[in-house]
Order: sequence, then C-alpha cells, then structure tokens
Amino acid sequence: MRALQCVELGMPDKLQLNDVPDPEASPEHVVIENKAASVNFPDVLMIQGLYQFQPELPFIPGGESAGIVSAVGDGVENISVGDRVFAMTGTGAFSEKISAHNSSVVKIPDNMGFETAAALPMTYGTSLYALKQRANLKAGETLLVLGAAGGVGLATVELGKAMGARVIAAASTNEKVNLCIQHGADEGFIYPSGVLNRDQQKELSNKIKELSGGIGPNVIYDPVGGSYSEPCLRSIAWEGRYLVIGFAAGADQIPKMPLNLTLLKGCQIVGVFWGAWVGMHPEENKKNFEELFKLHSEGKINPEVSDSFTLDDGALAIAHLKDRKAKGKVIIEI
Ligand SMILES: NC(=O)c1ccc[n+]([C@@H]2O[C@H](COP(=O)([O-])OP(=O)(O)OC[C@H]3O[C@@H](n4cnc5c(N)ncnc54)[C@H](OP(=O)(O)O)[C@@H]3O)[C@@H](O)[C@H]2O)c1
Repeated sequence: MRALQCVELGMPDKLQLNDVPDPEASPEHVVIENKAASVNFPDVLMIQGLYQFQPELPFIPGGESAGIVSAVGDGVENISVGDRVFAMTGTGAFSEKISAHNSSVVKIPDNMGFETAAALPMTYGTSLYALKQRANLKAGETLLVLGAAGGVGLATVELGKAMGARVIAAASTNEKVNLCIQHGADEGFIYPSGVLNRDQQKELSNKIKELSGGIGPNVIYDPVGGSYSEPCLRSIAWEGRYLVIGFAAGADQIPKMPLNLTLLKGCQIVGVFWGAWVGMHPEENKKNFEELFKLHSEGKINPEVSDSFTLDDGALAIAHLKDRKAKGKVIIEI
C-alpha cells in the first residue's frame, strides 16, 4: 500500500510517499481501508520531533481517519468487515490502510460522510470534553474562543452555541472571523499576529471586556498560548474557567501566569488533555461521541472542511496547517 512516511525529522517537505507492506489484523485489531484522514496540529509537531509523544523513525503520521473495515482480528466482537468507522490511532492515518486497536474504532452513522467522520473525533472530542467535563459550561454564559477558526476552535464555537452559550470568536484575519460568525459565533474580533507588546495586550484585554458586557467571559478556550494568554486571563469573569488547550503560538512561548489573578478573579486555570482522559474513561468518551453524532444529525454541528488534498499531496496538507492557512479542518482524501 502507499503511505506518507516520516523517515527523518523536519518540515513537511521531508515526508516521502512510499510503498510499504499492508497491515494485518492482529488480535483485538481491525484493518481499515482509509477513505479520508484529517490533519491536526500534533502531526505538525510530531514530524519535527517536537510533540510530547515521539514515535520511532520511520513512521506514518496522521492521528485519525475514516473508512471501511476490511479485516478483523481474533477477539474483536463489536466490529465487522464492511462497517463504516472512524479510528483514532495517533499515527498511521496518512496511508491507504491502517491497523487499529478495536478500542480506538467507532462505527459512524449511515448519514455521515467519510470526510466529516475523519474531521470530527479529535477536534469535537476535545472541545466537548473541555466545555462539558472540564468547564461545566452553562447556557447563558459567555465563552471566548481563541484561534476560533482553527480545528479545535471552530468545533468549540459550534459546541458553545449548541450548549446555549454566547460565543465570542477571536482570530487573526477578517476571513477567519467571518467563518466563525457563519458557524454561529455571536461576536468576533481580529487580534494581532505575532508576539503582542504591552499596549497590544492591554487592548486585547479591554476588547474582550467590552464584548462581554464589562464582566468578562465565564469560560475562555485557549489553544494558542504565547502572549495572548495573560491578557485573556486578565479579562475573565468572576469564577471563570480558563481552559488550557494547546500552544499553537509556539512551544518556546508557553505562558507563565501570575497566580494572584486566580485569587482576584476567584477563577480556575483548567488543564485539558483529551487523549489521556479517553484512555482513562473510554465509556464516558463513547457517550460524548454519541452526543456528537446526535448534534450532527440535528444539524447543530457541521465540521468545516476548508481544504482537501490527495495522498500524493499529503505533505502540502500538513504544511497548510503549519502555515496558519487552515480554516476548520484540512483533509487528505484517500
Ligand atoms: N489538549 C488537548 O487535548 C488537545 C487536543 C487537540 C488539539 N490540541 C492543541 O490545540 C492546538 C490547536 O490545534 P488544531 O488542530 O486546532 O490546530 P489549527 O487548526 O492549526 O488551529 C490553531 C489556530 O491557532 C492559531 N495560531 C496562533 N498562532 C499560531 C501560529 N504561530 N501557528 C499556527 N497557528 C497559530 C491560528 O489561528 P489564528 O491565525 O486565527 O490565530 C490557528 O487557526 C494545538 O496546540 C494542539 O496541540 C490540544
């Protein structure tokens, strides 16, 4: 089969499209013929050796895919050949076939296309867990989303609306803000790109307070980090919840927060590590996926696929996300 391989660490242009042996269905595993795979920020980090989990070289990047089961190994009871599924494997998805442990495979509804199914698990899974289990977001509360037109950002905009929140979307361009409004955000604004100076940070804090009726957002969803985080925390409402999702602005710019702010605001800084939680609470995660399928069938969430690439151009798909050009999800069709 053909697969995009990382044979040496570096930028996406170092990836190679190679012929590799087909995977087999070992015990408790299924083989899936991939139809679509989606790109996530960890793929960008992993191929450079910058992610918290580092596979041995050579490896096939790609954390999630959707397709049709073509073989099942011993001990697999809940999945059969011919089932339409998505799989969350961490690596291996940018390939024609993948072997996945049955615990990471979920059957998808008949009315859900493979592109949508590949776009959904990590972004909507992370964001539902963050808003529901970690922030306990309530209807009527105000939710600020940073990087709101990105993968997890746009999922959060939609889920925040579906949960009855008033959503403020923050992003780096007018086009991105408009996309968030189309996906249900009540308000949106552009923040400057790059490292913010003191005046820009103050302006950001003031803008957020102004858009949230002077009291600040109850929940802040931050997948960006860098110099954006502290001014956002300074704007949070009394008893607010600040969700630490990721550091797209750069691992060299992980923010350090003044703890007096948590005292003065009576607020919480809440870490969100969806993958670890899924490992510890698979049944609760399964319920979250059922909720996501229901929201999708009701038209309340609708993953945005802004760009599709072929497997031959898979490296370009990863570069697209790395270069901050992605809106919603970037898909590799297989
Ligand atoms: N905690 C968890 O369980 C979990 C799960 C999934 C993902 N994540 C993390 O969430 C973050 C976002 O992931 P994603 O897949 O949604 O990525 P994405 O689609 O690329 O979105 C990231 C957004 O961050 C903003 N950004 C700001 N500075 C950036 C920079 N220097 N380079 C690139 N983007 C920048 C961009 O929006 P603007 O241009 O509008 O600023 C972009 O849309 C990553 O750090 C990822 O590791 C965490």
